[in-house]
Amino acid sequence: MPDTKKAVIIGASSGIGEALVYEFAKQGYEVAMTARRLNLLEQISINIKSKTYVKQMDISRPRKAVRILTELIDEMGYVDAIVVNSGIRIPNKELDLGYELNIINTNVRGFAAMASTAVKYFLKRGKGNLVGISSIAGLRGSANSPSYNASKSFVSVYMNGLRQKCYDTGVYITDIRPGFVKTAMTKNIKTKFWTASTKKAAAQIYKSMKKKKNMVYITKRWNIIALLIHLIPNFLYYKIYKIARPQQPAEKFIN
Ligand SMILES: NC(=O)c1ccc[n+]([C@@H]2O[C@H](COP(=O)([O-])OP(=O)(O)OC[C@H]3O[C@@H](n4cnc5c(N)ncnc54)[C@H](OP(=O)(O)O)[C@@H]3O)[C@@H](O)[C@H]2O)c1
Repeated sequence: MPDTKKAVIIGASSGIGEALVYEFAKQGYEVAMTARRLNLLEQISINIKSKTYVKQMDISRPRKAVRILTELIDEMGYVDAIVVNSGIRIPNKELDLGYELNIINTNVRGFAAMASTAVKYFLKRGKGNLVGISSIAGLRGSANSPSYNASKSFVSVYMNGLRQKCYDTGVYITDIRPGFVKTAMTKNIKTKFWTASTKKAAAQIYKSMKKKKNMVYITKRWNIIALLIHLIPNFLYYKIYKIARPQQPAEKFIN
């Protein structure tokens, strides 16, 4: 009888992460979920028929988070897939240093800690899937939240390095770049389009992992936007922001 498949979802308490818990459970996995909001994880776990594991974890405290992930893998016996989904986005036009550092601690330091721990474990095991949730935002900078976009660039390029390290080892790294997905993170963004449900996003993420894809945009049509983002020349890219938002306090300050 084949072994039961097991997955860890880091950042499972809401949005895309929560939907991933349901998707992996639907596919027959035992699912471990981690995040800071333990009460939400416990509620989600009640809805899952397969075996679940619940651990409170704050990835902005990377060393402690690594200890928790390592203990969790030990407790589970083995793990086939780890999804590093945790992330925060804070609009920060005023460039408040606290917010900038907060985003970097979670999305950069936390991500690196979780992804590198996952890869070391999988390389030792000789197989496994790491899935990291980056963003289309990582393709270029943004005046609205410079550290968020830069952090997602880090996530994608970090995974690129891990993929090179894992070449021909049986360990696969999938870089997920969503456009808009309907979650708490995008609730206050006024201009949204092509917004996917978390269920659809989770199904596509799972499928991409199973197909051992290196990188995917969620949903597929965001490939078009990615191409446009690459093609727009810098002068136009900067100008668009100025035209769309002429009253920015930061710009008044610079003038
Ligand atoms: N929604 C979109 O349109 C969109 C687009 C592109 C990329 N993404 C990316 O998708 C991922 C999921 O976001 P979402 O849209 O589903 O938003 P969300 O509902 O706010 O989910 C964020 C998840 O990350 C967890 N998290 C945040 N800080 C954490 C920390 N310090 N330690 C551990 N877990 C932490 C949260 O759990 P706790 O708060 O309980 O810790 C939560 O489970 C993020 O990486 C985001 O950047 C989203």
